[in-house]
Amino acid sequence: MSTERYVATVRAHVAAHASPARLDDLFPLAQALAEVTEHTSVAPREVPYARYLLHADPEGRFNVQLDVFSRGYTGGVHAHGTWGIFTVLRGGLWVDDYEEREGRVRATRRTWAGVGAVQAFCPPMSDWHRVSTREGGEQVVSVHVYGPGFDLDTGVALGVDGLPRSYRRGPLGDLRALDGFLGER
Ligand SMILES: [Fe+2]
Repeated sequence: MSTERYVATVRAHVAAHASPARLDDLFPLAQALAEVTEHTSVAPREVPYARYLLHADPEGRFNVQLDVFSRGYTGGVHAHGTWGIFTVLRGGLWVDDYEEREGRVRATRRTWAGVGAVQAFCPPMSDWHRVSTREGGEQVVSVHVYGPGFDLDTGVALGVDGLPRSYRRGPLGDLRALDGFLGER
């Protein structure tokens, strides 16, 4: 089952390498996850919009989540304070990256992450970002891996005043909705 392939891939990398300190430390894992995505199929059905916790490492080194986005979604500018990688399984995401300069967070780039794309971030390099989806098209599905210290209940986003503040995340989706959703190919 593909969930296990994602988890096994991350577990193997986390066990073999010290905690990533720089973005390029994550490239081997990003490459491996790209290969898992290439061999993962998504059932042609829609599932409830939510984030689903596929796996939380018992030692707290990482977690793996599947995100299902609604159409026309634009998230807040946020940071995770730990390393992360995501890969797109269906549809696509606009990803806006930001960095802090002279005490202000400013947009630095916008990229389109389509099916098969993998993106990584790793503090201390700025990990402020936000994602959005198109108004139409397929329901967007992506898999996200986060490193140690990721808070499943509370996130950090920029307020309208441009200052970081914590926010409460929504509840996790019911994993039963994903029965038979991911497959191998
Ligand atoms: Fe994020």
